[in-house]
Amino acid sequence: MTSPNTFRIKSFGCQMNVYDGERMAELLGAEGMRPASDGEDADLVVLNTCHIREKAAEKAYSDVGRLRREDGSKPLIALAGCVAQAEGEEARRRSKLIDMVVGPQAYHRLPKMIAAATAGRPSVDTDMPAATKFGALPRRRRSGPSAFLSVQEGCDKFCTYCVVPYTRGAEISRPFADIAAEAEQLVEGGAREITLLGQNVNAWEEGGRDLASLIRHLAGVGGLERIRYTTSHPVNMGEALIAAHADVPELMPYLHLPVQSGSDAILHAMNRSHTADSYLRIIERVRAARPDIAISGDFIVGFPGEAEADFERTLQIVDEVRYASAFSFKYSPRPGTPAATMESQIPQPVMDERLQRLQARIAEHSTAFNRATIGKTVPVLVEKPGRRPGQMIGKSPWLQSVFVTTDAPVGSMIEVAITEALPNSLGGVIARAEAA
Ligand code: SAH
Ligand code: SF4
Ligand code: F3S
Repeated sequence: MTSPNTFRIKSFGCQMNVYDGERMAELLGAEGMRPASDGEDADLVVLNTCHIREKAAEKAYSDVGRLRREDGSKPLIALAGCVAQAEGEEARRRSKLIDMVVGPQAYHRLPKMIAAATAGRPSVDTDMPAATKFGALPRRRRSGPSAFLSVQEGCDKFCTYCVVPYTRGAEISRPFADIAAEAEQLVEGGAREITLLGQNVNAWEEGGRDLASLIRHLAGVGGLERIRYTTSHPVNMGEALIAAHADVPELMPYLHLPVQSGSDAILHAMNRSHTADSYLRIIERVRAARPDIAISGDFIVGFPGEAEADFERTLQIVDEVRYASAFSFKYSPRPGTPAATMESQIPQPVMDERLQRLQARIAEHSTAFNRATIGKTVPVLVEKPGRRPGQMIGKSPWLQSVFVTTDAPVGSMIEVAITEALPNSLGGVIARAEAA
């Protein structure tokens, strides 16, 4: 095979995979490759996979199979992300089409792996080196108006249903100085908003400094107007972080704080180390600090042993919190996790029915939250063109997507008078464009 000139990276799963996909693209760019254009066959395809729910591996292998071209040829194929980490050597046994298997902590070594694969030597690298990959990646140059920045990786929480502690390894915090430098590069490259990422982002720490002090530092970076962070775990929701919501204007009024279930029995079986009540008390404190904050969450329905009464407690907590948005999933047994072998797994039809009821309840609250914005004028950071001609899409401080007809360019901050609310977006008219 000749060495690849073009690449395509497909990222699945969470925002950390999106971030890793961007870093891989920059790395391949620095090696002289370019992204394949639409419709063009890429010489190298990277499947940056997610392992969180059922049939993740099967889906990845069928995606690999579809990369074979009509004439029987194929691109160089790299399996990356969490399925790659979980499958390791097994991936090459299951599909000979795969040339490289590279885990989330090893992708800085892709250039070497590509050179080897081009010379006919496939490789597997799922090392989780103690030194981070970040130092081996090129500096950030160009950025959209809203950028992701991974600050924390891995998880030590071991919720009984979850594969992340196995695919992403133990919790590690990136050094403060690295993060600060990357934030400055992103702002120089065009970012006005940065979302700090981590599987447990609020567990970030360095020598006594916590996420709140990192946020306070970044708030001082000139040109950085909006800071967000995700995903947080309730047990790491400390007083300092809550206080930052009260007095750091750059910190956006939005908190994604998954609860998973409203039943203490289920939370205990999930090994969540919080109760419904302790979660609600956190929400109370956060709201006291920042009354207009939008709360979002994740839910799992049909965890083993979940009785109707447990599920009703989940509906109850949804009503108590009044989520601005939330993701909900049917429990999916993951091989190797403790919950997969628990008794009283819940039948699919019961899960389907509960998921529907939960999503209807969440939609009531998110619609109400969005409706409450009608008549207000809100600052919107313009991110991209909308589907209709002349239309742009941006985000409100509360992470709502806002559609507006305007000639304001991508990257501008505009004031939009909200006229219309749907469960997942807002519409409005321009009240004031940014002074040029
Ligand atoms: N670290 C984050 C997110 C992890 S994965 C956190 O703890 O909040 C994102 C979401 O996927 C989880 O919050 C959970 O709701 C869901 N999830 C994880 N494992 C799952 C499984 N086995 N079945 C169904 N949903 C799952
Ligand atoms: Fe998974 Fe729980 Fe860790 Fe989140 S906190 S990544 S759900 S084990
Ligand atoms: Fe999926 Fe891995 Fe993220 S399993 S949710 S891509 S950490």
